[in-house]
Amino acid sequence: MKILVTGGLGFIGSHTVVELQEAGHQVVIIDNCSNASESVLDGIESITGIRPDFEHIDLREKGAVDDFFNRYPEVHGVIHFAASKAVGESVEKPLLYYENNIGTLVYLLQQLVARGGSSFIFSSSCTVYGQADHMPITEDAPIKPAESPYGNTKQIGEEIIRDTCRVEPGLQAISLRYFNPIGSHPSAEIGELPLGVPANLVPFITQTAAGLRTQLSVFGDDYPTPDGTCIRDYIHVVDLARAHVVALERLLKGRSKSNYEVFNVGTGKGSSVLEVIRSFERVSGKKLNYRIVGRREGDVVEAYADTTRANGELGWKAASSLDDAMRSAWDWEKKVRGL
Ligand code: WQD
Repeated sequence: MKILVTGGLGFIGSHTVVELQEAGHQVVIIDNCSNASESVLDGIESITGIRPDFEHIDLREKGAVDDFFNRYPEVHGVIHFAASKAVGESVEKPLLYYENNIGTLVYLLQQLVARGGSSFIFSSSCTVYGQADHMPITEDAPIKPAESPYGNTKQIGEEIIRDTCRVEPGLQAISLRYFNPIGSHPSAEIGELPLGVPANLVPFITQTAAGLRTQLSVFGDDYPTPDGTCIRDYIHVVDLARAHVVALERLLKGRSKSNYEVFNVGTGKGSSVLEVIRSFERVSGKKLNYRIVGRREGDVVEAYADTTRANGELGWKAASSLDDAMRSAWDWEKKVRGL
């Protein structure tokens, strides 16, 4: 049996491929390399000793996708990461996001259903909750109107999968709602490689410390939180990757309670921006150059997960601390920059 990982050269995808291989699964990656390089395969192989099959395919090419499934009839599990994910860009280019994130999902599901179904893990996001009314956030928290086309594609994607599972008994699916993935594999052979100026906090911190950026701007310290900065649930990317393996095996082994389930994947602990900075300074021994500036449009005040369902039903729990994750992020940055 083979597991298809779409977007498997990406940050979370590549870490998930490593964990799948280490759990004994055979993996084939589909990636269009729009946001990742084929050299990530070398990193994966250096960790596990196994080079996954790789197909350079854009999921928007329906013929190529159809041909893929004809050539890989043994694929019975899919973890679907491939999507555009820059919130700001999605506001500027909504049709690109709806085509790439929704159109390709529909076609991928049509392929799977036409071939008798599959076990399907969907990369979703805590973004679907917007600013939740209560912390920690449970899976039953109301889905708020999306703040961006990117967030909307995650909401719509979940609904498409839910509606399809309802009428296709061969399709078993789980949506994993990620909180804030950070860090890198402890080997420093794979990690986060944002293209251009990082939008996310942790790569901006490590690039500032590495001298690529002059100063980190902290977007606001006048929020109603203990230190005034926003709170998030920062989860080590390896913990997140392991959640995917556990979720997929739940489906492959027929352990799911229904053929569509949703799980929050976080640590269950909230950390402020300043706490993340302190964590970085602790693990790196470096003083970070930052300044407080105005708020960033669209930021929610706080978001951290209630992980009761993931811990209990899924049988998964994050193992790494914020310091572990920040240390791995810094180790990766130093390796990439030759520091
Ligand atoms: C975290 C905190 C910023 C950069 C994003 C995506 C979301 C999901 C998770 C995929 C916020 C502050 C940031 C900086 C800062 N990804 N910050 N200076 O926005 O919580 O969520 O990743 O599903 O879709 O939007 O993550 O890392 O951008 O911000 O002060 O230079 O760090 O204001 O409070 P975010 P982030």
